[in-house]
Amino acid sequence: MDKVVRKALELLEGARHVAVLTGAGMSAESGVPTFRDAQTGLWAKFDPQQLATAEAFAESPSRVFGWYVSRLQTVRRATPHAGYDALVRMAALYPDGFDIITQNVDGLHSRAGSENVVELHGSLEAFRCSACREVFSTDRVIELGEGDGEVSAPACGKCGNFIRPGVVWFGEMLPREVLERATQVAYEADVVLVIGTSSLVYPAAGLPDIVSARGGRVIEINPKATPLTPRVDLYWEAAAGEALPQLVDALQRTEGGKTEGRND
Ligand code: OAD
Ligand code: ZN
Repeated sequence: MDKVVRKALELLEGARHVAVLTGAGMSAESGVPTFRDAQTGLWAKFDPQQLATAEAFAESPSRVFGWYVSRLQTVRRATPHAGYDALVRMAALYPDGFDIITQNVDGLHSRAGSENVVELHGSLEAFRCSACREVFSTDRVIELGEGDGEVSAPACGKCGNFIRPGVVWFGEMLPREVLERATQVAYEADVVLVIGTSSLVYPAAGLPDIVSARGGRVIEINPKATPLTPRVDLYWEAAAGEALPQLVDALQRTEGGKTEGRND
């Protein structure tokens, strides 16, 4: 057994509550571009951080709305990779508590069958009015966006204001109940797996510190080191779709994480 797998099993030994914090890297192997990797196509000339803001939407609603239509089309075509399925299997090994906190808005954890998913930054499937929050059908959004370009933001049927994506933009507050739930998960977790996030954006990036401050263990899975890496108990330099199936296969062999005898 790989050294890194054995170390992960040791850190998971005896854990009753496991938390998982995921970022855009969790969806990279499903063909969904990450935030900070280069954009493709028409959107290549824009930095996502200049599109995912209320200011950008106010300045050019059709450009921002068009970008989200294009992202919705991308995620609708995406299928959860083996790493997602591994997390579904892993949850069954931790009946006392297995919660996924995701920064992603692509819905892939739920689509893979995971329960107890906290969507910190909202969802691409939740378009609503920018003023009165009236819900707007995502199927209608898909119809509006044929190509991969700007799309005029539709007007709310109730108050006439622009319809916007139901995601948290830079500088916006996270919904209070979502942040409370994520924080509670962090306070209860014996171990947190931090997967595919650059750990740059708070409050998400602060959740692993809550776990370690209480004596919980932190395992980071990412092909590149991040600002969190120096503070973790295990840095697993790998892609999510590669590491997670390995980890869960080993866990299932050891019935939930008791490490098997040393056989190196
Ligand atoms: P980023 O794009 O900032 O980081 C993606 C991370 O995934 C990087 O650390 C990559 O090294 C890693 N990565 C890439 N491919 C991977 C793979 N196959 N397996 C595992 N990891 C991989 O995305 P986030 O950290 O999610 O917020 O960004 C956090 C937030 O910044 C986003 O939710 C978004 C943005 O602002 C809002 O929109 C509010
Ligand atoms: Zn409205």
